[in-house]
Amino acid sequence: MSQQLQAKYRKDYTSPEFMITDIDLTFDLLDEDTKITAISKVVKQGTNSTLSLDGEHMELLSVHINEEQWSEYEVTPSHLYIHGLPEQFELQIVTKVNPSKNTALEGLYKSGGAFCTQCEAEGFRRITYFLDRPDVLAKYTTTVIADKAENPYLLSNGNRIDSGELEGGRHWVKWMDPHPKPSYLFAVVAGQFDVLRDQFVTKSGRTVDLEIFVDQGNLDRAPHAMSSLINAMTWDEERFGFEYDLDIYMVVAVDFFNMGAMENKGLNIFNSKYVLANDQTATDTDYLGIEAVIGHEYFHNWTGNRITCRDWFQLSLKEGLTVFRDQEFSSDLGSRAVNRINNVRIIRGPQFSEDASPMSHPIRPEKVIEMNNFYTLTVYEKGSEVIRMIHTLLGEENFQKGMQLYVERHDGTAATCDDFVVAMEDASEVDLTQFRLWYSQSGTPLVKAKTEYNQSDNTFILELEQTTEPTLDQPEKQALHIPMNVELYSKSGSVLPLIIDGESIDSVLDFKQESQRFIFENINEEPVISLLREFSAPVKLEYDYSDSDLMFLMVNAKNEFARWDAGQNLIAKYLRRNITLYQANQDFVLPENVLDAFKGILLSEVLEPAFIAEMLTLPSQNEVAGWFKPVDVDAIAEALGFMKKTIAAELSDELTAMYHTLKQENYSVDHPSIGQRSLRNICLSYLATTENGDALVVSQYQSATNMTDTIAAMNSANQAQLSCREKLMSTFSEKWTHDGLVMDKWFMLQGTNPAKDVLSVIKETMSHSAFSLKNPNRTRSLIGAFFNQNPVNFHSIDGSGYQFASEILVTLNESNPQIASRMIDPLLKYRQFDETRQNLIRTELEKLSKLDNLAKDLYEKIAKALEA
Ligand code: TRP
Ligand code: ZN
Repeated sequence: MSQQLQAKYRKDYTSPEFMITDIDLTFDLLDEDTKITAISKVVKQGTNSTLSLDGEHMELLSVHINEEQWSEYEVTPSHLYIHGLPEQFELQIVTKVNPSKNTALEGLYKSGGAFCTQCEAEGFRRITYFLDRPDVLAKYTTTVIADKAENPYLLSNGNRIDSGELEGGRHWVKWMDPHPKPSYLFAVVAGQFDVLRDQFVTKSGRTVDLEIFVDQGNLDRAPHAMSSLINAMTWDEERFGFEYDLDIYMVVAVDFFNMGAMENKGLNIFNSKYVLANDQTATDTDYLGIEAVIGHEYFHNWTGNRITCRDWFQLSLKEGLTVFRDQEFSSDLGSRAVNRINNVRIIRGPQFSEDASPMSHPIRPEKVIEMNNFYTLTVYEKGSEVIRMIHTLLGEENFQKGMQLYVERHDGTAATCDDFVVAMEDASEVDLTQFRLWYSQSGTPLVKAKTEYNQSDNTFILELEQTTEPTLDQPEKQALHIPMNVELYSKSGSVLPLIIDGESIDSVLDFKQESQRFIFENINEEPVISLLREFSAPVKLEYDYSDSDLMFLMVNAKNEFARWDAGQNLIAKYLRRNITLYQANQDFVLPENVLDAFKGILLSEVLEPAFIAEMLTLPSQNEVAGWFKPVDVDAIAEALGFMKKTIAAELSDELTAMYHTLKQENYSVDHPSIGQRSLRNICLSYLATTENGDALVVSQYQSATNMTDTIAAMNSANQAQLSCREKLMSTFSEKWTHDGLVMDKWFMLQGTNPAKDVLSVIKETMSHSAFSLKNPNRTRSLIGAFFNQNPVNFHSIDGSGYQFASEILVTLNESNPQIASRMIDPLLKYRQFDETRQNLIRTELEKLSKLDNLAKDLYEKIAKALEA
């Protein structure tokens, strides 16, 4: 790791020395050499007469100042320094890039036959030399020129203002975006598409044209994205009062994309996975994912675009807030409980795991080498939890007042996380001084709770203690302001009023000290406590619940989340116990009354199927791994397998009956139907482990009318290693070889195959005609699934999984460093394992660290992991 790499620190922020107020761009698009002319109006802000512009991976053709050729400049691999500049001037820069060779998928590249761009976070500097930072807001005018036959559509941000024809079969279109924006929101697209069109009338009566661009032949897969967009526009007006601000909103679906989607002003670019769906190709999960991501990018128009980030350390200002908004959108449209449960699973699983890794960072990082490495679960998902805590502390009404004040103050500017918190405080008069620590402190707090009932004076005492373990980035931790939502129940299931010091209080306690006691009065019988209701803070909770308290809460808690959480706690108790028993070579246990509790849930006539399905879902192998150090992957897999088989065997009659009752005549993507399919397919996954498993799975595969049921059958066959697996897999791949997005589901099944010889199969699968390491979706589904969701094989004690990972990373480091860097994460966490595995992984990391061309994405992570 001999590269000279500069870390940037949040504390070093300074405002720009020059401002660029307007930029006029011309793209002369050609596959191998595209010429870009950029004419900017530049105004000096400070005293420095040297302008340093960011720029990399391109060729500089010319520099002009006020239309005169300029020679006072230097070019380095990362900058262009222009000297001797006046106070105010016009800067013209011409650059050349090669979109066909751009496999990093940042800047201007070709996805299939189409040209497209990805500029967040620092991709604009691969298009032209610029002040590529989010606090430089300019008005963009963009002319796109290309071959007309190959690229009938030429798109950019804002409104289309002019167009024309040129010689040699070329044509051009000119766009103007009236809203000043940072360079990361710029976009260009050119290609041949089918377009789905609709319109939306805003609350103030303006008509907006909606256009979704998809590859030719895919029009029948665009309607769900369109209705999701219309739902998002309606919802944002109703819940937040935010209205769209241009005459046109475009969404383009591309097959080669590093992330989910990008909120470029007026011209969103999407990974086709989050646009394309019909009942033959997409599962219910895909449909819900499209709704969430379409919503997310649309909501960025206010939280991200109108108000952007001052610097990239403030990323959570737009991402945490926008994730919060998309979660609320999905919850208002579908089941709030199911959405909450799935969001909490992500925090307790992968986010807690990130907190415990060498990459631990606060939601507002302090130090960054490669910004792409900070589009993390912490910034996004924990960031959203922090916004949710503010919402919990303020209530919806004050929170909305805070949002309005935030927009009033900062619309059209680049703001900080603290600006947001100040607006929330000023609007609500709630003091968030200590709460701000959630922005600067990394790691997962552990809350230990103890209770005591005093019959003599009818009090119930709750004692809370909080600690946060040191993390690699931050050894010292302080006490946080934790909103702790609690409820007390009488034995008959009624909610007991909370009274402290003679005063009624609401259910959210302000837990602010290292340890704190809450004494509830007038409690006439020993109550059952429900703690951390709604997961009111992203913390680990330790409380010694008895089995009977948990079974009581599974039935009696007043909100669904708390019932689910009690069920998860009960499962967790027996998982822990069985893992210990396995390690001591003893028999597994699962008592009758625990099985009965889950039987009761399954047979409930009041609970919704979608919720029952969540209650019956065991925690993931990765979530369980987070409870232990060292992690014993084999013991966890065995214990989970035992729980699954035992529940299946003991409840097989009820599961079978439910499975048949829930059969649907027609497929429809509404929430009740999705819930029924989800419960039916959970039943199938249990039944697959029983005698009838093979027959049931084959019959479901053959009679399935939609992708949800097809994949559920295949997934059950895969997990239970049924003899029908091979046949189903080959039938499926013959049918779908031509369709990459559908094949991703198949690749994922190959990657997660628990069979012992799976690594050789995965290597073979890489030469499948539908596979390519150049495509991030394919890479994630096959390779990513193996790294992250096949723990027993990936962590095989012979080290073969780690060696394979290292070979893949060498290739990706060169072709697409951003994807390489996402794929390396499981290796960074090597310290969780036994010494043998630690050494095996460290050897691979050390090998990688010595690569000559190690990209800074991987460098940053490997350096942290090895220094730990
Ligand atoms: N801003 C995008 C979002 O949250 C994230 C994103 C899309 C991104 N593409 C990217 C981030 C490339 C970094 C690099 O929706
Ligand atoms: Zn986002």
